[in-house]
Amino acid sequence: MTAAPSPMMPESQAPGMSRVVAVQDQFGAWLIPGRKSPPSKEGGYSDRADAAIERGVRLCAELEAGNILFCDREAVNLYFPRTAFPISAEEREFLLGQKQTSAAYHKNIAYRPGEDRVTGLDKSEAAEAERLRKILRDYSQRATEFLEKLLPPYAGKWKLDFASYRPLEEKGRPARTRARNDLPHVDSFPTRPTNGDRILRLFTNINPSKNRVWITSETFEAIAPRFAEALGIPGAPSGHPAAKWLRALAHRSSRLLPGLAPFIRRSPYDVFMHRCHNAMKEDAAFQAECPKQRWEFPPDATWIVFTDCVSHAVLEGQYALEQTFLVSREALVAPERSPLAALERLAGHSLTIPAV
Ligand code: SIN
Ligand code: FE
Repeated sequence: MTAAPSPMMPESQAPGMSRVVAVQDQFGAWLIPGRKSPPSKEGGYSDRADAAIERGVRLCAELEAGNILFCDREAVNLYFPRTAFPISAEEREFLLGQKQTSAAYHKNIAYRPGEDRVTGLDKSEAAEAERLRKILRDYSQRATEFLEKLLPPYAGKWKLDFASYRPLEEKGRPARTRARNDLPHVDSFPTRPTNGDRILRLFTNINPSKNRVWITSETFEAIAPRFAEALGIPGAPSGHPAAKWLRALAHRSSRLLPGLAPFIRRSPYDVFMHRCHNAMKEDAAFQAECPKQRWEFPPDATWIVFTDCVSHAVLEGQYALEQTFLVSREALVAPERSPLAALERLAGHSLTIPAV
């Protein structure tokens, strides 16, 4: 991994800790575009397609084991030329320039692909919002095409969640404890319960000169017993007809009750994961003692990680783009490694709610 300093790649992986897997090392030489492909197999995939699927399964298994997929800019442009990352020079100039001129950019800016809408900006920023919407829409589309090619087992089996632009310097950024991103935690979104589906995030460091610095700690599988003991083992979902009726109503009327419906629809799994997110940040002993590994993601690097399983924190860095995918648990290649499976093993019962 040329762009990444050697401390990023420890030779051995301590149990329960994550490692960084360089995507470019996972490709056979003949997969490079422009090389002649081997002959097609009769009635089946070509060897090239077979290899892409096999590689995808391997990469999904790495992610599900709590590892981080890393792609430097050269790798993305080499293997996926039509989805070239991260952004054009002109887009980058616009994004970096806004921060210096506009007070409205002093927060994360979210893009909602389903609604093609940007949130987190002042009304007075209409012209900039339009440009930003276009940039984030393009990023979201390219990130999606990229992952469809890289991870065929998940393709089309996810819900495209929000994208975001992160224009603030993370070092020393003031925030409430639960909102701090410099304390290792697993992600859980109270307003978007997943019912056991997975939170997969793709980040791109668009800073022209500075690394984005992360630390990771133990994966959810390793920390689950500690926090299950601290928070209590979650109960099974209520099978009472009234509870079922209320959940079905919340499902149907999520447009009418946008603030309330997600909370009614939350499964015991979602409730636990959100409490765990808060408890990890608030547990001073855990924060001090947990084993930590430091990773530096250089300018123009893209990395992909299940943030519901990898305890992560960002220590330094400014200007990043991110796209979140909620991957269906049906699509996992190793469902037994998922946070849901780890928690259900401890609980001894199901923690999801049946589809309505
Ligand atoms: C986080 O998900 O905690 C923040 C990661 C980042 O912005 O680099
Ligand atoms: Fe996070």
